[in-house]
Amino acid sequence: MASNVETLIRGAVVKGIGKVADFNRKRLPRPTDAHPFLTGIHQPMTEELTLEGLRVEGEIPAALTGRYLRNGPNPAAAPDPASYHWFTGAGMVHGIRIEGGKADWYRNRWVRGTEACAVLGEPVPPGPRTEGGFDAPNTNVVGLAGRTFAIVEAGGKPVELGYELNTIAHNPFDGTLVGSYTAHPHHDPATDEVHAITYRGDEPNKVWHVVMDSNAHVIREEAIAVSDGPSIHDCAITTNYALVFDLPVTFSMKMLLAGYRFPYAWNDAHPARVGLLPRKGSGASIIWVPVEPCYVFHPANAYETADGKVIVDVVAHETMFAESKRGPDSQKSRMERWTIDPVAVTTTRAVIHDHAQEFPRYDERLTTRPYRYIYSVAMPDGESIEWAMADTRLFKHDLAQGTTAIHDFGPGRHPGEFVFVPRRADSGEDDGWLIGLVVNMNDQTTALVILNADDFTGSPQAVVNLPHRVPPGFHGNWVAD
Ligand SMILES: [Fe+2]
Repeated sequence: MASNVETLIRGAVVKGIGKVADFNRKRLPRPTDAHPFLTGIHQPMTEELTLEGLRVEGEIPAALTGRYLRNGPNPAAAPDPASYHWFTGAGMVHGIRIEGGKADWYRNRWVRGTEACAVLGEPVPPGPRTEGGFDAPNTNVVGLAGRTFAIVEAGGKPVELGYELNTIAHNPFDGTLVGSYTAHPHHDPATDEVHAITYRGDEPNKVWHVVMDSNAHVIREEAIAVSDGPSIHDCAITTNYALVFDLPVTFSMKMLLAGYRFPYAWNDAHPARVGLLPRKGSGASIIWVPVEPCYVFHPANAYETADGKVIVDVVAHETMFAESKRGPDSQKSRMERWTIDPVAVTTTRAVIHDHAQEFPRYDERLTTRPYRYIYSVAMPDGESIEWAMADTRLFKHDLAQGTTAIHDFGPGRHPGEFVFVPRRADSGEDDGWLIGLVVNMNDQTTALVILNADDFTGSPQAVVNLPHRVPPGFHGNWVAD
């Protein structure tokens, strides 16, 4: 989810820091247990596959023509487990192509950055990169203006991929992006703009509101003043605002100097707040509203009420990166509704569903508008401090009824993020499919599962079988042709 900012900072701030970090990295305590993000379900793949004519159970809807794509960390060279952090592995994109009720192919391809190219013996594709830094975006893969981009936060540049997932170029949106990007752009269906909040590992005092037009060209990069170098993973938008989650996970010089590859940690001294930035306003016009300390990777939707408040639903973690230096480590998260009052300057938190979960998705045609359903992935609740992706369930939250339905894939079958795809452009909310990958640890295989969103607890509409384990990565999307 974040890039290797250590090398970025080395070049940009003080060259000596890098030498100190290199020296200290060799002295990091040797792990006494297996790295949870390099073994078991997370063990990286070691080869690129092209599989054709995939075995399908059930009936793939004829209306689906395109690719399901998913990105995640998959080191190309074996990393040192003493300093490896899940968020810093080189990106690998997995894709399954569907047309006419058939699954034509599966491909997995490393994003061609320095590491993968060195291992594969290939030249690094052209285009601007963070020289010597993280150049294999590992967090999300999106379709923008008919093109495919692998993306990451914290300073890594976007990488453009071909239809069959080959790396075309390191490409900051045809040169229109001056600064850094994010793994979580948000399309506004009302304006056809794509909004993001971005940050850089080497700039602790600014984040940016970045807007692209419908051609995936940047038309705004507005700086917003912050302090301590907060790690801002995602954002949300309403009709009038972009939401900035300035929460207490911040850059740690101590960790950087110690040699850790991902130098961010929980910081009790950093005030938690949400910024409401007028979408066309200056960075100075942001309205900061305090919130009780917690961390949010991912919001679901957000919208404004008639009386000027902002509603945003989020997965809130009690803390994050407070102990583990290997990956996310909260013991407790829950789905919450935040009501942000820019006049009273208060944030009210209400619990929607009190169980650990992550990767919330919704019908993105409703971005900035009231909505009813959130689909998320269950996580072990209060058991494991590092994410084993060990639960077997998806949640479907009905925000109107206040209920949660559960789809359980059964023992040993672990879902990742599921994305909502409407059946037709004009179909209603929930009138569509949920598509995602489910790892089967019983036989080390993976299924692309298509559920009927409106028959959430029922049998899948279709299952595409892959004969190998796809490590649970981060984010995926359906990219229609
Ligand atoms: Fe994310």
